[in-house]
Amino acid sequence: MHPAFFPIIGFLAGSIPFGFFIAKSQGIDIRQHGSGNIGATNVLRVVGKKFGITCFILDALKGLLPVILVQQLLGDVPQRDAWIVGTGLATILGHNYTPWLGFKGGKGIATSAGVLIALFPIALLVGLAAWLLFFYTTRYVSLASIVAALAIPITEVVRSVMAGEWRIPHLVFSVLIGFLAVWRHRSNIKKLIAGEENRFVPKSKRGA
Ligand code: G3P
Repeated sequence: MHPAFFPIIGFLAGSIPFGFFIAKSQGIDIRQHGSGNIGATNVLRVVGKKFGITCFILDALKGLLPVILVQQLLGDVPQRDAWIVGTGLATILGHNYTPWLGFKGGKGIATSAGVLIALFPIALLVGLAAWLLFFYTTRYVSLASIVAALAIPITEVVRSVMAGEWRIPHLVFSVLIGFLAVWRHRSNIKKLIAGEENRFVPKSKRGA
């Protein structure tokens, strides 16, 4: 099997817009409500907690499975690491730019988390700690997500310095993950700067 098969599979898996389908199952076009994002945060905000959690799990799984597949099935080919991280990146891009919704997808945080479980579990834990810290101190999901995403390349750089070993594909991948997350949160960043970003309030705690 040609190694390019795996990024293509990853992109297609990532492109499945679970958030869109979950909200649609409740008669809601998620793109017209809340932040308009198809991700788990907006599904939780608009449709409800169990739907948001389901969306997060499915979006993470579609990130995790293609990477496990390429890790298990790709033989000893040249640039093996690059094909593996490339599959992870393609999966996130599939989510962020899904062709099935006119290339307007999500922000890639849950799918990145799934990819990172298989690729960089330590960086994921650092990112998760950063996410929890910023979320519980500010109640801004977007800010927590941005900081968590930026923690990924920082962790990889720290690891490289400490180990004295620079893994170029991993470094490039981690920088791209951080950049993509910031890029996809542009509207949130503008609102944060303007003081207009909504703090997270679960549907159950909001008035009717
Ligand atoms: O993972 C997306 C989150 O960081 C922001 O989502 O819907 O508030 O734009 P949202």
